[in-house]
Amino acid sequence: MRVRVPRESGPGEHRVALTPETVKKLGSRGFEIVVERGAGVTAGFPDDVYDDAGAQLVERSESVGDADGIVRVGAPSPEDVEAMHEGLVLVGFLQPLTDDEGVARLRDRGVVAFAMESIPRITRAQSMDALSSQATVAGYKGVLLAADRSPKLFPMMMTAAGTIAPARVLVLGAGVAGLQAIATARRLGAVVSAFDVRPAVAEQVESLGATFLDLGVRGEETEGGYARELSPEQQSEQQHALEARIPDFDIVITTAAIPGRPAPRLIPAGAVESMRPGSVIVDLAADTGGNCELTSPGHEVTHAGVTIVGFTNVPSLMPQDASRLYARNVAALLEHLAPGGALELDFSDEITSGACVAGRPTEAPA
Ligand code: NAI
Repeated sequence: MRVRVPRESGPGEHRVALTPETVKKLGSRGFEIVVERGAGVTAGFPDDVYDDAGAQLVERSESVGDADGIVRVGAPSPEDVEAMHEGLVLVGFLQPLTDDEGVARLRDRGVVAFAMESIPRITRAQSMDALSSQATVAGYKGVLLAADRSPKLFPMMMTAAGTIAPARVLVLGAGVAGLQAIATARRLGAVVSAFDVRPAVAEQVESLGATFLDLGVRGEETEGGYARELSPEQQSEQQHALEARIPDFDIVITTAAIPGRPAPRLIPAGAVESMRPGSVIVDLAADTGGNCELTSPGHEVTHAGVTIVGFTNVPSLMPQDASRLYARNVAALLEHLAPGGALELDFSDEITSGACVAGRPTEAPA
């Protein structure tokens, strides 16, 4: 299978879909990898390292006609799709739950598209779970963004000039990103509390040395382990409970999400106004609108002395290791779709059929 790696064109996208490490590995497993010049530069992987790893380097303007597959990070632009041919296999974060138009464009073009988001979260597919690998990076970076903006030290400091109390951090949403945020804030010495609507995570929160904050709201879990959206009554109950508790914290990291839905609103403007000046909120749910009413996606704003960081695509702010992890996820999927480098799509397989969002062959009439 001949696989092409484009230079990403999405705004602020610094990651790359395959790293030299994975190019080499796939090369030894029967794949031919073609990399667009400059594809890895923003992630810290220059062209000559891809060359050494056995990739063929091509100009971006060169036709994709001879490729069997394209692996990317973000969804392709309409022009990119225009250049694709029928039967081409595409892999990337294709936003299948929110970008109907983009998926329809791929289907109309006859592209066989696999969305990293749609890979079933089953044990067998753990090595391909890019939602988890990138959320891990986001959770870590979120805490660093907060620590950098906070006027307070994170750890307790006992010095000749007296003692400084540790920062108090609240993490809202304790899924993959939230658990990593808790671990990172703990490593920096903060005192951490966390909340999630899935009561099952309380134990995981506590095992990381944080306190589970009881807001009196219990949500339900779907079969896939995700949270169900709260009812409007539960949402307002949660907002009120948070409004009362939030002034106790110096830093709030929010990660609450419901797949395919806008981010749940957890922090109303009133709760922000009740925080001490100098407090920081890092809203890792900004990509889907934000967990805080005052978040401005893509920006950092200050309101009543509180800094609210609403950067989108946070994993791309750590492009090198985010790419290393993502590339391993992509390589694992490629090896699944093309064992020994020969494309062999088996739609009776749960991973292949679960991840395929366009171009699945229609069943022959009986
Ligand atoms: P996510 O990114 O969709 O959501 C993040 C967190 O927000 C979740 O923990 C969710 O419960 C929470 N949340 C939603 N609404 C909330 C609200 N109103 N208030 C507070 N918290 C709220 O989820 P993520 O992190 O991608 O994964 C969540 C779960 O999926 C995992 O904890 C696990 O159960 C399952 N999972 C399973 C895997 C596997 O079996 N291979 C791998 C990764 C995740």
